[in-house]
Amino acid sequence: MKEAQKKDIKGKKVLVRSDLNLPIEEGKPVKSLRLKKYADSLKEISYKGAKTVVMAHQGRPGDKDFGSLKEHVPLLEQELGRDIEFVNSFFGEELPRTLEKMREGDICLLENVRFLSEELRKGSVEMHSEDFFVKHISRHFDIFINDSFSVAHRPHGSMMGFMKNLKTFAGPLMSEEIKECSKARDAVENPVLILGGAKPSDLVKMLDSMVERAEKVLMGGIPGEIALKLNGKPIDKKYSWIKDRKLNKGEKELLDIMKENQDKFVLPVDIRNDKGEVSVSKLDGTEMIWDIGPKTSEKYSEIIDGAESVIMKGPMGAYEEGYSQGSLEVLEAVKKCDGFTLLGGGHTSTLLNQSNFSLKDFSHVSIAGGAFVRFMSGEELPVIEAILKYS
Ligand code: 3PG
Repeated sequence: MKEAQKKDIKGKKVLVRSDLNLPIEEGKPVKSLRLKKYADSLKEISYKGAKTVVMAHQGRPGDKDFGSLKEHVPLLEQELGRDIEFVNSFFGEELPRTLEKMREGDICLLENVRFLSEELRKGSVEMHSEDFFVKHISRHFDIFINDSFSVAHRPHGSMMGFMKNLKTFAGPLMSEEIKECSKARDAVENPVLILGGAKPSDLVKMLDSMVERAEKVLMGGIPGEIALKLNGKPIDKKYSWIKDRKLNKGEKELLDIMKENQDKFVLPVDIRNDKGEVSVSKLDGTEMIWDIGPKTSEKYSEIIDGAESVIMKGPMGAYEEGYSQGSLEVLEAVKKCDGFTLLGGGHTSTLLNQSNFSLKDFSHVSIAGGAFVRFMSGEELPVIEAILKYS
């Protein structure tokens, strides 16, 4: 894989596929760790003297968070510490005219690429290299840099098509994510897995491929609550809530993995809800559950303390509803661990962004969600395969 940071791109017109898909609050995008990390990567490219045009998306058509990237401009400018141009249109004179005016090191942002109907079709590099917009835009550039690890599971037009038409490199963040996540997936010894978040279905494949090597699997979030139920604990009220939202998908597979690896799984011993803390042994099924309790955090922290390596995916509780205590206590223990520590998943990085932790507190923080889980499960990601072939 050829890395952009090792190449001479000075003065070149460079198209960078980045990921600026941000959380939207009250109709506006808000800053996130993802924005910071992608902006740092863009800085690295622009410091090499490239004329950088950024292509990215926001949301999916039909979803509430789908919209223009225009509002992202001031946020990106703050992270980059400089002004950037915004180009509304993929066709016509605006893009070539902007490129003509750009000086070495300048950066400009294109409109949401998912506004183009061709973008979301899944296909190969060959197929997408013939897409109308890909062919049209390719004409204006010398180099394509794919920096979007967090979109590497989507073989979409902008992720694949330019690789055949332009000289292609992996971006700095793409390279860093692949290096660090590969280390966690293939090389670290006896990892302690900390798994939470909203859906067991997100975790099953990752568990399946890593459980054998894992020292322990510490369960939290909704998968942890479902694990309690599978272990015969009464969580009836919360389980109805989970089922109403169809979040129990994957529970059968989770049960099978738990049965085969009973000695590795560690489940919550207490929980937090709106009335306080309750020991799991006192649950009668009438309580809601929103977070792991303090005794669970303490137990998990002792295990993390002696770990050779830690991989954490997903928060321990409903942090977006204000129940972040359990996750913060566990993160504090991960921060203190001397081994290799990796955090992944969209919600884990959002949580980190809202707390006082810094990126330096962990060996690596992946800002990918779906791509992270698939990568850690050992799945081949089409975009990474294509970069390996075309760069
Ligand atoms: C993400 O947020 O995980 C990436 O931006 C990919 O977004 P998508 O799931 O809408 O393709």
